[in-house]
Amino acid sequence: MRLQLDLFLLLVLVVSRVVCTPLKKSEDRKKLLLVSFDGFRWDYDQDVDTPNLDQLAVDGVKAKYITPPMLTMTSPSHFTTITGRWVEDHEVVHNMMFNTTTNLKVPHKESMKRSEWWDNGVLPLWITAQNQGLKTASFFFPGGGVSYRGQAVNRTRLAEVGHPDDNVTEWRQNVDTVVSWFSKEEFDLVTLYFGEPDNVGHAKGPDHPDRKKIIAQIDYIIGYLRDAINNHNLMDSLNVIITSDHGMTTIKKRPQVDEIILNKYLNLIKLASFEILDYGGFGILTPRPGKEQEVYDALSKAPNLTVYKKHEMPESFHLGRSERLPPIVVMADLGFNLNSRFIVYVNKGDHGFHNGEMDMKMIFRAFGPSFKKNFVSEPFDSVHIYPLMCELLQIQPEPHNGSLEVTRDLLWSGGESHRTGLPAALLLWVLVWLSSVV
Ligand SMILES: *[C@@H]1O[C@H](CO)[C@@H](O)[C@H](O)[C@H]1NC(C)=O
Ligand SMILES: *[C@@H]1O[C@H](CO)[C@@H](O)[C@H](O)[C@H]1NC(C)=O
Ligand SMILES: *[C@@H]1O[C@H](CO)[C@@H](O)[C@H](O)[C@H]1NC(C)=O
Ligand SMILES: *[C@@H]1O[C@H](CO)[C@@H](O)[C@H](O)[C@H]1NC(C)=O
Ligand SMILES: *[C@@H]1O[C@H](CO)[C@@H](O)[C@H](O)[C@H]1NC(C)=O
Ligand SMILES: [Zn+2]
Repeated sequence: MRLQLDLFLLLVLVVSRVVCTPLKKSEDRKKLLLVSFDGFRWDYDQDVDTPNLDQLAVDGVKAKYITPPMLTMTSPSHFTTITGRWVEDHEVVHNMMFNTTTNLKVPHKESMKRSEWWDNGVLPLWITAQNQGLKTASFFFPGGGVSYRGQAVNRTRLAEVGHPDDNVTEWRQNVDTVVSWFSKEEFDLVTLYFGEPDNVGHAKGPDHPDRKKIIAQIDYIIGYLRDAINNHNLMDSLNVIITSDHGMTTIKKRPQVDEIILNKYLNLIKLASFEILDYGGFGILTPRPGKEQEVYDALSKAPNLTVYKKHEMPESFHLGRSERLPPIVVMADLGFNLNSRFIVYVNKGDHGFHNGEMDMKMIFRAFGPSFKKNFVSEPFDSVHIYPLMCELLQIQPEPHNGSLEVTRDLLWSGGESHRTGLPAALLLWVLVWLSSVV
């Protein structure tokens, strides 16, 4: 009797601890690797032999495809992924940094080092994670090379201008480096960026055999990454998300179509004080004072494009509230380039088109201890990746435009309570049984 009472008290203690004190979050925390292959269209693996990507789908989860935010460009889309905010909120509204007053235009690679382009009050995941005690790194990832409110990512690698994007020897080294950051230096979050298959897609077009070759090389490096994870015993502690920023479509050229030349419809130099054109399917213009309606009307007559006044853009674009975007936004129909005056444009493939076009959709794969196996998800918007990453890292997200509900199905446990639920219930049952004996 005495012994049973002691046992009873002990059990009360144990059960109350399990039930009442939630599992300390950090004990269960997994590490996270976010990998982005620039311009990996959702269906690029369907006409190439990709054994490693196929195995990933068996060992993890796959979305049929995912949708980038409007403004299907590298910097805007990556920054939506890493902030969970629409482009109108994070204000990284182009690959090029620009200022419509000073006419400043900073090329894409160079803008990667300019904090004033990225730091607009919306904090990316690295900084939020660091503020909650985690250690993070960015390897070539857009937005990872600058400071936010004076705070830098703990470790950062920036690609030099002119850096080759397709060197498989270097890819292996980069994977080895990142995996060692997890295994030897206890990093919690690393984002790793590859510049392919975007480059090949631009230079040769999405249907060129060289695009298939680069997909085979990407498949190889994914196999290499999985081996490295196994060799460093990270299988049970590291979650991996593989995704992209936009798709790619073939650019229509003469004689197949009449290519757009905007200066045929309006005198650009007379009517606009600032423009970024000749950059694929997305163009921006600042009309000279009092000329907004004239610019709008002229461009409304041009075929194969849609012109918007910034404040009249459909709300679903989530672009209209941007302060940085100039008053006029031009979106070409799929496959058309917005040439300004002459055809100087050489790309065979491009993006920047409407995110509803299937050619702009991109891949999503994930695997690791928190993800289900052999699970195929319905499509979703990339803005929802952010709350998923916060859940995986068990950190408190910043205000964002995503929803964890959209991706909860990808995870074994819908929430943290699941894991403690069973032992607690079992203990409670034993307790009830014992108390009836006592
Ligand atoms: C553009 O440059 C002007 C003049 O230097 C500056 O006052 C303004 O804040 C800049 N605009 C943006 C959006 O950075
Ligand atoms: C990471 O950066 C944060 C903020 O700058 C800093 O407080 C923290 O000590 C850094 N952590 C490591 C491990 O370097
Ligand atoms: C590829 O990368 C390796 C390792 O960084 C380097 O030694 C080699 O020179 C590079 N090759 C080319 C063609 O850039
Ligand atoms: C482009 O516009 C022309 C003129 O309106 C039209 O005839 C043609 O069908 C359009 N091309 C495409 C591919 O939509
Ligand atoms: C996106 O999230 C921010 C921060 O919570 C919010 O201010 C904004 O209104 C949201 N945007 C939309 C379209 O809901
Ligand atoms: Zn691109």
